[in-house]
Amino acid sequence: MTELALVTGGAGLIGSHLVDRLLRDGHRVRVLDNLEQVTHRGDRPAWIPDDVDFHHADIRDRDAVERALRGVDVVFHQAAYGGYMPEIAKFVSVNSLGTAHLLEAIRDSRLPVRKVVVASSQAVYREGAGECAVHGVVFPGARALDRLRSGRFAPTCPLCGADVVSVPTPEGAPVGGQNTYAITKLDQEQLTLGWSRQTGIPAVALRYSCTYGPRQSLFNPYTGVIAIFATRLLNGLPPVLYEDGLQTRDLVFVEDVAEANLLAATTDALDGLAVNIGSGTPTTIADVARLVSAALGIDIAAEVHGEFRPGEMRHLTSDTSLAAAAGYAPRVALADGIARYLGWVAGQGDITEYFGAAERGLRGRGIIQAVAPG
Ligand SMILES: NC(=O)c1ccc[n+]([C@@H]2O[C@H](COP(=O)([O-])OP(=O)(O)OC[C@H]3O[C@@H](n4cnc5c(N)ncnc54)[C@H](O)[C@@H]3O)[C@@H](O)[C@H]2O)c1
Ligand SMILES: [Zn+2]
Repeated sequence: MTELALVTGGAGLIGSHLVDRLLRDGHRVRVLDNLEQVTHRGDRPAWIPDDVDFHHADIRDRDAVERALRGVDVVFHQAAYGGYMPEIAKFVSVNSLGTAHLLEAIRDSRLPVRKVVVASSQAVYREGAGECAVHGVVFPGARALDRLRSGRFAPTCPLCGADVVSVPTPEGAPVGGQNTYAITKLDQEQLTLGWSRQTGIPAVALRYSCTYGPRQSLFNPYTGVIAIFATRLLNGLPPVLYEDGLQTRDLVFVEDVAEANLLAATTDALDGLAVNIGSGTPTTIADVARLVSAALGIDIAAEVHGEFRPGEMRHLTSDTSLAAAAGYAPRVALADGIARYLGWVAGQGDITEYFGAAERGLRGRGIIQAVAPG
């Protein structure tokens, strides 16, 4: 059956791959996207196909949202303000209030939407799960600032205080991520799932891990680590590692995330749930830097500058068994995905490096802080 899908944020990294995937299956697609200037430069990106019904509008504009929802069967809500941006009010207004508008519009106009899939994030967790030698699998809290300042980065067992070893994090882990982005991603997830319980309209929240791939913004200095390292290396600059570079992340290729959205829309096995979507494999950030520089053939070693970002997790690898039981199977290995991303970057012309200047602003606001062993 072909359907009309609304993809909010459909001009962005994940949204645009989801659009391609939906069109390939024969669905009709509408996009609502305001082409946020932190992510995009200029007009409608060339990768939005002509047969998409493109609404250039803000998710906070209630009338525009109502127009975009007309005749829609399924909503993929990807639009969000993201990353380590310094704003607080804008996160709350775009992510939390924007989601509220979308949900109210569907409910109050009694629109026949059959499902809402909302983009959440692994950022909602406090810290990745850990294994304590004495207490087994535990859920450490966010790391204390004084420990980070003294260069002690390992998360600790909440029962005995011993350092723990990272293990995959299941959906049942406590939420309560510390930065503004994380707080508002949890808002989006909880607003949507609570609304679903009230209205009876099925909804799924997908907690993506770090997603990368072609079309990841090269202008946004707060974007993903692979894009940042690639633009630094291409400008002859070393990748900069926070902490000691041995923190781990779960990096997932964008097409696997798009596929997970299709799955969430078609199975009812995940309805009402928050579901991890990732590769299930940890990679240290230092290894990410090595993989990117090897793939580019640019031999510049990454540097540790003795800095950290308060509220950031040390380790997070998604336990994806819930999604896997419903049929989710990520396909693209990290080295292949990096090669595909760099192939796309090579076609983008001159690459300017915006990260260094952005970092200076973040230091001034305490979002990046110095380790001061003493
Ligand atoms: N990329 C990741 O690593 C990652 C990880 C976890 C969760 N997510 C979530 O996935 C979703 C998509 O992220 P992405 O990586 O594709 O980011 P992206 O920045 O590439 O895409 C987001 C899109 O939303 C649009 N947008 C932003 N503010 C808007 C507004 N006020 N009104 C309408 N549109 C607006 C932007 O113009 C952009 O096209 C987001 O909800 C994000 O929080 C991303
Ligand atoms: Zn313990």
